[in-house]
Amino acid sequence: MKLFFAPLQGYTDYVFRNAHHAVVGGVDGYFTPFLRWDGGLRSKDRRDVSRENNNDTSVVPQVIAANRDELAPLLDVVQEEGCRRVDLNLGCPFPLQTGRGRGSALLARPEQVREIMEEMKSRADLCVSVKMRCGFNDKAEGLEVVELLNDYDLEFVTIHPRVGKQQYKGAVDMEAFSEMLCVSRHPIVYNSDLTSVEEVKNVVSRFPQLYGVMIGRGGLARPTLFRECRDGIGVSDGEALRLSLELQRVVYDAACRMLQGESQVLARMRAFWEYQKPLVDKKVYKRLMKAGSLRNYDEAVRSLA
Ligand SMILES: Cc1cc2nc3c(=O)[nH]c(=O)nc-3n(C[C@H](O)[C@H](O)[C@H](O)COP(=O)(O)O)c2cc1C
Repeated sequence: MKLFFAPLQGYTDYVFRNAHHAVVGGVDGYFTPFLRWDGGLRSKDRRDVSRENNNDTSVVPQVIAANRDELAPLLDVVQEEGCRRVDLNLGCPFPLQTGRGRGSALLARPEQVREIMEEMKSRADLCVSVKMRCGFNDKAEGLEVVELLNDYDLEFVTIHPRVGKQQYKGAVDMEAFSEMLCVSRHPIVYNSDLTSVEEVKNVVSRFPQLYGVMIGRGGLARPTLFRECRDGIGVSDGEALRLSLELQRVVYDAACRMLQGESQVLARMRAFWEYQKPLVDKKVYKRLMKAGSLRNYDEAVRSLA
């Protein structure tokens, strides 16, 4: 059973992924937040996918594109960096992307998905996976795309069982997930709302044929979760916090080296702690999120140790 750390734009950059791998571990594979082509690739994204920054971890670059023209230059970059694997984003629900025909919007346009898959196929050395939702508007769309994907060689398909229109709200549609699992000939990875060993066990016992699970926000909230799932036993909250503090030290040092000015560093560290509310004392959490200077931030962190 594979355990994947989901891509999370603004959170799981290479600094975080490398630090998580070194300090906590338990993950079979990380994914870069989506790379997009807007007349070029942002230098930040180039660094995130570069060989030199991803030496120690198993990382799959993820791409988002509306069509072949946007996809091809992204694949060129990925292949120039020596990556043999790529993940296609058919799940992003953010209007900034769906409005441009990318992410989950493609699920309503299977002919575009086919065009994209043909470009993937033309890259002989590339091993492809897909991350998708149950549809953009409804599950009939997702099912159609799953059937279409059966025509291509894929490593696996990750399914987040919501439709794009739901964004991250509302119930997951386990019925739709189950139908997609039956229709697909590819290994399937379940993604969404997994926050404890118990929940992971439940989904795996309900769908024993799963190739793996992918965890996003639950992994930000409790970075030890993957290790706990792997070992089949939990660690104490104290130990989880101790490892979080080690992880934050690496992320913090990198932020101080790479970002300009205190406010950028503080913004990065707010994102680091944002999902970890359950692990941290309430008052200290407030101090971390509201720190107006590095001095205040450091003091708040020290009080957690
Ligand atoms: C802030 C944020 C950023 C995200 N960025 C990406 C992304 O770059 N690529 C992607 O495929 N999914 C992205 N997602 C979706 C997650 O990978 C995941 O599918 C979703 O959060 C559901 O899983 P979870 O409940 O385990 O977090 C993002 C989600 C959030 C909340």
